[in-house]
Amino acid sequence: MTPFHYLNGELHAESVSLSSIAKQFGSPCYVYSRGYLEQRFTEYTEALAGQDHLVCYAVKANSNIAVLNVLARLGAGFDIVSVGELERVLAAGGKAERIVFSGVGKTAAEMRRALEVGIHCFNVESEAELERLNTVATEMGVCAPISIRVNPDVDAKTHPYISTGLKDNKFGIDIARAPEVYRRAASLANIAIKGVDCHIGSQLIDTSPFLDALDRVLSLVDTLAAMDIQISHLDLGGGLGVRYRDEIAPATGDYIAAIRARLGDRKVTLMFEPGRSITANAGVLLTTVEYLKLNEHKNFAIIDAAMNDMIRPSLYDAWMDLLAVKPRNDGTLRRYDFVGPVCETGDFLAQDRELCIAEGDLLALASSGAYGFTMSSNYNSRGRAAEVMVDGDQCHLIRARETVTDLMRGETVLP
Ligand code: LLP
Repeated sequence: MTPFHYLNGELHAESVSLSSIAKQFGSPCYVYSRGYLEQRFTEYTEALAGQDHLVCYAVKANSNIAVLNVLARLGAGFDIVSVGELERVLAAGGKAERIVFSGVGKTAAEMRRALEVGIHCFNVESEAELERLNTVATEMGVCAPISIRVNPDVDAKTHPYISTGLKDNKFGIDIARAPEVYRRAASLANIAIKGVDCHIGSQLIDTSPFLDALDRVLSLVDTLAAMDIQISHLDLGGGLGVRYRDEIAPATGDYIAAIRARLGDRKVTLMFEPGRSITANAGVLLTTVEYLKLNEHKNFAIIDAAMNDMIRPSLYDAWMDLLAVKPRNDGTLRRYDFVGPVCETGDFLAQDRELCIAEGDLLALASSGAYGFTMSSNYNSRGRAAEVMVDGDQCHLIRARETVTDLMRGETVLP
């Protein structure tokens, strides 16, 4: 399905026009398609049919509880990186035994809560973390299920900020050292070894780095077997890229088929932690043109969404498509930088785009369903945007726009 499409000259989300959503819920506003979220998740599970698997959606990409709930209803597992994400998953009806806990800085309190609810696995990222987890599990009189996140030292060939599988990155344990760490884990009374984990980066358009990483991980699994350490699952992380502009993103089915082909006859559960490939193109950020500022050398369209709503263009120089909700042909086509009201020169959502627009026009920033709302902030004391989910011809407010009261919650002046 194409979740966002033009119908009678107007951009729609499934069967609902985006202008009717802006009218009802205001602007700026994130809009997600339930149908597309479901489709993208199901592509993973269908490609894994006949193979033991667990697809753990990476909550950081989009953590709205309605999004999590839609995926939980399809039997999704979840990849979390904080107790906040853990509580979101549980609140959304996700099952604790389908949760994996990633991240380099798990606190003892986070470990306790995850052990208390009985998560599937901790993806351990350092030797110090392994020792702490064993201590916490011993205090609680339980056994902590773990995999070691190994760093396979492959170049994901993506943006340096989102590349994680190189030796110089803070993530995981050097794969060469991993057998030693597994030996130590096997000697700890309150640690149960379950799997091997790796995640090499995000927005990969070429699948060969994934396959290189898999080869290295499989050779580690064989080394461990020779040490009498049996692995029941392989977690290959997330990272599958999507189309923002003209990238030819790998089809999920082809990616999974290539992985399955390399697995041979090893009897392991295959796990994945996809985020962006499920949610990015399931969402847009609706925004309104406030002012047109035509300078001698440059035209600016000042819009009501800013870097605090969507930071990807400012932070990674990410190119995201910008579409007119009701394209017009009664004005002048001009080249604009689309900038927000935040007081930073780096506050732009799109640069150098040719559009025919007027004050008050609605625009949609495409591919905003991943790392959009979750990376948003209150900078410049701007309330965060509303979030809406469309389901066929219905739309639901899934997060209310933040109010001024929300902005000051928890703050007090001195007595
Ligand atoms: N698993 C782990 C351990 C991760 O660190 C990540 C993403 C994922 C899974 C999900 O990766 P995905 O399938 O979404 O590529 N804010 C950046 C992306 C940061 C990704 C961080 N880790 C962006 O907007 O491009």
